[in-house]
Order: sequence, then structure tokens, then C-alpha cells
Amino acid sequence: MENKMDYKKELLKDFLKWFDGGLNYLRDNNKLIEEYLAESESIPIEPQVKKPNGNKINSQSILYSVGNNDECYTPAYAVTPLLEFLPKGKIYWLPFDKNDSNFVRVLANSGHNIINTHIEYGQDFYIYEPKEWDVIVSNPPYTNKRKIFERAISFGKPFALLMSNTWLNDSAPKQLFANVDLQLLMFEGRIKFLSNGVVDNKITFSSSYFCYNLLPKQIIMRSF
Ligand SMILES: C[S@@+](CC[C@H](N)C(=O)[O-])C[C@H]1O[C@@H](n2cnc3c(N)ncnc32)[C@H](O)[C@@H]1O
Repeated sequence: MENKMDYKKELLKDFLKWFDGGLNYLRDNNKLIEEYLAESESIPIEPQVKKPNGNKINSQSILYSVGNNDECYTPAYAVTPLLEFLPKGKIYWLPFDKNDSNFVRVLANSGHNIINTHIEYGQDFYIYEPKEWDVIVSNPPYTNKRKIFERAISFGKPFALLMSNTWLNDSAPKQLFANVDLQLLMFEGRIKFLSNGVVDNKITFSSSYFCYNLLPKQIIMRSF
């Protein structure tokens, strides 16, 4: 009987220790949770937060978190409709594009000057900026899109960034574009992105180029 009681006491002690640990974790990462809630998405994505220093997560690390939709690559047919709106003689910065990106291929083949940069080349969009450029064009990662758009807007230069239309359900774009004219290049069909070289035929959302100071009017429809 006594042994059983001791056993229960031990279990209770273990549980309280575990619970206390959880509370401390929440307390330590209050900022992280606030940022996560502020970013709340209409498409649920499991945030896979990298923990570079043991268990300690700081707010900076959320910028480097990777979501499931971040490594989706854009097919060429979804880049081509942009060409109609890209003036010649400008320098196009493609901040999320390795050399094999279709943004690189399509723009370069059309005779545009491009600078493509990518996190894997040590060029983090949040801190890196080429010396000279005129227009940003790309498909950014889905994770932390509020911060990506915040930075794009902060330059005050034109941009076209491909984004899911479902984002318009969130408060972030309404706040970010309250005083900045949002332009949308929309498509009839859904873009089937490539993941690990394979076309994703189960795309459940449609996408548009969220633009600033690039299109001749606020909403333009195209098909591909
Ligand atoms: C949605 S993918 C699109 C890739 C390419 N733009 C395309 O459309 O085919 C976004 C890419 O941005 C990269 N990336 C993520 N965070 C980044 C950052 N902070 N700076 C630059 N590139 C980043 C990802 O590794 C990923 O390859």
C-alpha cells in the first residue's frame, strides 16, 4: 500500500516538473508565440522551427524557420505573363532564386538584366541587398510573408511577388497595403508548382503576383 502511494507521489512529482518546464518554455518564448500569432495564416502550415543553439529559441530564429510550402518552384508558364509588364533597361532583382530558377531563365532569355540571389548563396533577403537594382520579381517563401512584404515595401521600389490568394483573408496584407497601392496580376488557372522536380497536381489554392507600382491598373487578369 505504502509503495503504491510512493509511486503515485513520484508520478505526480514528475508531472509537475514536466508541467513547470512547459510553463517556463512558454514564458521564455512569449515573443516567438506573439509573432507566430500575428502571422496567423489561413493555410495551416506546420512551423518547423530550427533550434541552432540547443533548446534556446530566440525571435530571430523564426525568420529562418522553414514551412512546408517554402521549396515550391515556379513553372516557366507562370513567369511568362509578367514579361508584358516589365520595362526594358531596368535591373531586376530576383532575391529567392538560384541559377536554375525559371524567373532567371525567362527574364534573362527576354534580354532583361537580372541579379539573382538566394539564401543558399549566403544572400539572406532580410539583410542582403544588391548595390544597384530597380525592380524585385520572384516567388518568395510562404513562411514569414508579412516580413518579406514589409521589407519589399520598405525599399519604395516596384515589385512583383507571387503569393497565394488566400493570404488576402489575413489581416497582414490589409495592414501592409493600407497606404501602399496593392496591384494584383491574377490568373484564371492555378499554378502547379514543382516540388523536388515533381509537378504538384493537387494545388488547392490560386496565386497572383502581388505588385507595387508595376502594373498599369490595380487588377489585371491573365490566363496561361
Ligand atoms: C517558394 S521558393 C521559390 C523559389 C524560386 N523563386 C521559384 O519561384 O522557383 C522560395 C525560395 O526562397 C528561399 N529562401 C528562403 N528564405 C530566404 C531568405 N531569407 N533569403 C533568400 N532566399 C530565401 C528558399 O530556400 C526557396 O528556395
